[in-house]
Amino acid sequence: MNIEWEKLGFEFRPTKSNLRYTYRDGKWDDGELFETYDLTLSVASNCLHYGQAIFEGLKAFRCQDGAVRVFRPDANGERLNSSARHLLMPEFPVERFVEAVRRVVADNVEYVPPFGTGGSLYIRPVMIGTTPQIGISSSLTYQLIFIVVPVGPYYKGGIKPVDAMISLDYDRAAPHGTGHIKAAGNYAASLYPSRIAKEHHCSVALFMDPKTHEFIDEFGTSNFLAITADGVYVTPKSPSVLPSVTNRSLMQIARDLGMKVEQRPVRKTELPGFKEVAACGTAVVLTPVGRIFDGDKVYEYGTEIGPVLKSLYEEMTGIQHGIRPDRHGWLVTV
Ligand code: PLP
Ligand code: COI
Repeated sequence: MNIEWEKLGFEFRPTKSNLRYTYRDGKWDDGELFETYDLTLSVASNCLHYGQAIFEGLKAFRCQDGAVRVFRPDANGERLNSSARHLLMPEFPVERFVEAVRRVVADNVEYVPPFGTGGSLYIRPVMIGTTPQIGISSSLTYQLIFIVVPVGPYYKGGIKPVDAMISLDYDRAAPHGTGHIKAAGNYAASLYPSRIAKEHHCSVALFMDPKTHEFIDEFGTSNFLAITADGVYVTPKSPSVLPSVTNRSLMQIARDLGMKVEQRPVRKTELPGFKEVAACGTAVVLTPVGRIFDGDKVYEYGTEIGPVLKSLYEEMTGIQHGIRPDRHGWLVTV
């Protein structure tokens, strides 16, 4: 293993192992660690034709005291089960999910980036329907696979502000569509609008609600949050937005810091009035947004991270790395 931890981005690379569970005859097995990344599947598998494929994303951190801790794995276990229910897939008990995360991280512990490098170990659980079928129905067999990847910043530049563009493809929903489902197919549908944003030199697409185009939903990779001139934390409440664990945690941190938090429908017309804007999520952490392009209009939020976002970022990453107290018991030690 020869990894330059400080230079990591958000790219796949194999590690020592991945952990696979199989669901058959109505129950999950005990799981097995695999050192290969290949998977044998029937070409008629449900996940390939009818899209029974859901996933999660969470991170493990090397803390200041040398211990490895995972951030809120129970919340991701609960969300995986919510996605599973929406796509008629089997749930995986949350306690078992947390245990699986600890098991796969423990087996790959040498891939957790050292404290101080800014890196973390990204854990990606994915569940797929594997029954060969040609008629549309839910699969009878499934695999739940946990892969782990050491990662650095999702957007190069860390906390340097990125540019965003309001999706021109107005009628497309944000990656989760209605129902808050973290499903593979929802992301595939976001690829084209995200490509258009990149062609306009923007790192990320910002999706409006697909019905009226008047309300902000979320970014292609993350939730939207803004700080108003009065210092209020504002984030969209919408059925099409993924309930982000990061956003929920930041809202709690904001309240802890004495800020007012509003989760409510957010109008596009509010954009010019915001003081600071950011994207938040496990992969993007808290990435400030410097400019938002809306057709021929542009809203600007500065070329450096603003003071409120900076304090939220420092508190959040401080908790994750064991530098600041874990007041809410969010960390699970491996
Ligand atoms: N929104 C979208 C579209 C995402 O892909 C993600 C990442 O998972 C999020 C929001 C943030 O969710 P979380 O903070 O739970 O990672
Ligand atoms: C995550 O943040 O975990 C996601 O799944 C988002 C994706 C852009 C990697």
